[in-house]
Amino acid sequence: MKLQGAFSPPGDKSISHRLGLISLLASGRCAVSNFAPGEDCASTLAVFRALGGQVERIDNEVILNGLAGQFAPTAYLDCGNSGTTMRLLMGVLAGAGGEYRLSGDASLSARPMERVAKPLRLMGAQVETTEGKPPVTVRGGDLKGVNYELPVASAQLKSAVLLAGLKAQGVTTVTEPAASRDHTERMLAAWGARLSGQNGVWRITPSSVTLPGAFRVPGDASSAAFFLCAAAIMPGSQVTAEGALLNPTRAGFFTVLERMGVPLEIEPETSEPEPWGTVRAAYGPQLNGCQVEAEEIAGLVDEVPILALVASQAQGTTVFKEVGELRLKETDRLAAVASQLGAMGADIYERGDDLVIQGPTPLSAPKRLDSFGDHRIAMTLRLAGLLAGARPLIQDEECIAISYPGFAETLEGLLA
Ligand code: S3P
Repeated sequence: MKLQGAFSPPGDKSISHRLGLISLLASGRCAVSNFAPGEDCASTLAVFRALGGQVERIDNEVILNGLAGQFAPTAYLDCGNSGTTMRLLMGVLAGAGGEYRLSGDASLSARPMERVAKPLRLMGAQVETTEGKPPVTVRGGDLKGVNYELPVASAQLKSAVLLAGLKAQGVTTVTEPAASRDHTERMLAAWGARLSGQNGVWRITPSSVTLPGAFRVPGDASSAAFFLCAAAIMPGSQVTAEGALLNPTRAGFFTVLERMGVPLEIEPETSEPEPWGTVRAAYGPQLNGCQVEAEEIAGLVDEVPILALVASQAQGTTVFKEVGELRLKETDRLAAVASQLGAMGADIYERGDDLVIQGPTPLSAPKRLDSFGDHRIAMTLRLAGLLAGARPLIQDEECIAISYPGFAETLEGLLA
């Protein structure tokens, strides 16, 4: 079985979330095309509406009318499965003069929120978590700028502090230990915020932000990764992702695929504020394992499960160094990927917070596999099953709709 042809990944999830959440603070009206179709970004639009925002849908466009910080003084905000919605929203609400209750589904309710609450409290907001987790209550108010060193390379945490900084008196400085995705910085700066930075140090001062009249969301790099990676390990495959995001802070998996010996061609187009273009990947007949360093992880954090599948087909040892953050995603992704690919015959194990894979090993599919309700695990297992020449039952496979509702159709098209 091989994958062949071109596909357009759905609109990028991280950028779509930011469009919805920045619209709470920005003025203007933006016609967004290619808005991410998954359930996660629907959660962001739902909280935007619950706070008084108007969302129109005209043909394939989502029209966002910015609220310029004038939103409902109290609200109950259901963030569904989406950590990005909740964490960035906490930053947005920290500077608003109301009281807000933020909750989520069972998976989100188990995820850490103190890391966001802490800097927001230092800035002057009252934030209560439930033993460090959701539900979270935010009582916003007058904020003052802080100088904050992030304890982890997390774009969600960095974005929450920067969004609060937009409303805080004085300068807010955020320092990150390693480069994480920079969409918030790019979008805020392009749309009028006084934000500057380099080498992982970002400074923001209170400023007004105006949405552009129109914005096209590039294709989601993390969604594209599934088919690009699968092509690399299925003999005879060649796939092309069109209109894919090429932001360097998301492109870590390209570097790792090339290091493993995957034939990859990247043709950038020019576009501001986010670069995008075409990516072509083909079967790599002689893949080799490699080491992925701790400082590279933030740039490919969502791609570790599918890269682990590629590593299972590569000669030698692959080590993902210090990937403990994966334990804090929609499920413990280290345990999930090690147990489920392990059940298929992969030689994969956790060594402290490192993930180690020895390859190559043939895969076979047991009758049942478990996604643990995590969309990226479910897609990884679906493709692993394909490689094994089987269609195992994957528990909660429908969770794929969180980020990639068209995954099955695209897969069918590439198999045809
Ligand atoms: C995201 C950041 C990452 C990533 C998540 C989306 C974002 O999380 O895993 O899927 O849009 O900012 P962390 O910032 O917690 O690493």
